Amino acid sequence: MGGPVSQKHIVVGVCGGIAAYKVLELLRLLTKEGAVVDVILTKNATNFITALSVEALTHRRPYISMFDPLCSPYTHIELGQSSDLFLIAPATANILGKIANGIADDLLSTTVMATTAPVLLCPSMNEKMFLNPIVQHNLSKLKAMGYYVMEPGSGELACGATGPGRLPEPQEILEEISSLLSPKDLKGVRCLVTAGPTREFADPVRFISNPSSGKMGYALARAAAHRGAEVILISGPTHLSPPKGVKLVKVISTLQMRDAVMAEARRSDIIIKAAAVSDFRPKMKFEHKIKKDTSPLIMELEENPDILRELGELKREHNFILVGFAAESQDLVANAQKKLLKKNLDVIVANDIKMEGAGFGVDTNQVKIIVKDQGILDSGLRSKDEIAHLILDKVKGLLGELHKGP
Ligand code: PMT
Repeated sequence: MGGPVSQKHIVVGVCGGIAAYKVLELLRLLTKEGAVVDVILTKNATNFITALSVEALTHRRPYISMFDPLCSPYTHIELGQSSDLFLIAPATANILGKIANGIADDLLSTTVMATTAPVLLCPSMNEKMFLNPIVQHNLSKLKAMGYYVMEPGSGELACGATGPGRLPEPQEILEEISSLLSPKDLKGVRCLVTAGPTREFADPVRFISNPSSGKMGYALARAAAHRGAEVILISGPTHLSPPKGVKLVKVISTLQMRDAVMAEARRSDIIIKAAAVSDFRPKMKFEHKIKKDTSPLIMELEENPDILRELGELKREHNFILVGFAAESQDLVANAQKKLLKKNLDVIVANDIKMEGAGFGVDTNQVKIIVKDQGILDSGLRSKDEIAHLILDKVKGLLGELHKGP
């Protein structure tokens, strides 16, 4: 079990462009995610990166020529047909022209001709080359034939020019690959996710909050979008960029989060509340910064609404799957089960925040996924992206029940 990339066979074709250096980081990320990565370097690519670097990162010797000792007469067919996804990055004007016009004159162009896997092209070159009508015509032709094309970024290029032609960052390419490899089993489903902390200001600069980074909620939003759902992400303040294709609603306080959630809840099929919501807010908010000599300073707090509980009530009239989180430091399962019943949830994700590598701020998590009237799944320690997919797998099972009706 793992993320969508785990155990997938990915063939990466690298062409001779300066952005080839960025692909080394992508190879590291793909291997870390559990993919089996075979690399084909064109002869020109070996002027930019070495076979040794590729092998060190993928633990597999890269292929360079059809006629080197590593290749059999059928390598191009075997690689092409065993791959789950074929990536070409950077895709130069040369390789785009070759594929678009059916030219197969080296190992990379021959293998891509033999593949039946989805092909993702990441063009990267000087902006004048990229905007050249011949390159644009070839790209349109390739898109029409079903090739996936990741648009290059715009900005300062290695040659000093400015414009479109930058290879997207490795993390962005990884995200695109994950999306292509994810099953589209949530297509037609509307999924609302909350993420991050809320902040309760006492004066213009001071607030009550918690260490939530938003990573767990953003991972859920990303995974749901990759699986084809329409995703609305309601987020407290974080440093994260919203996942591609997700509608982001930014909020600060618990009251704002409640309003945003309630405005969307009735139209949602799935609601997942990963946000770490402040339970209390200062009863009085000072208009100006509280002076240090205001001593002793006693701050009275008032309770915030429990959004999850309100959603549990709403669920009695509206059909949606409700998933809560429980951040616990003791009696994990017992406390989470109490919340599941009290708040009328379908699923609760119990998060032991004292466990190393789990909970706030980190990229990994370990949770117990408790489904009402069903068993408990211990996720083990995994990336938040993988945990997100595990949660969605469980929710997917319940969606079938929901749509069957009473
Ligand atoms: O953001 P990260 O750094 O990635 O960290 C992830 C996380 C630890 C924040 C996340 O995995 C998590 O556990 N989120 C829930 C944190 C929390 O507020 O737990 P709780 O046990 O206090 O609340 C239980 C549930 O009620 C939660 O779904 C919460 O969103 C909801 N709640 C709580 C209070 C409130 N006033 N309204 C709510 O809706």
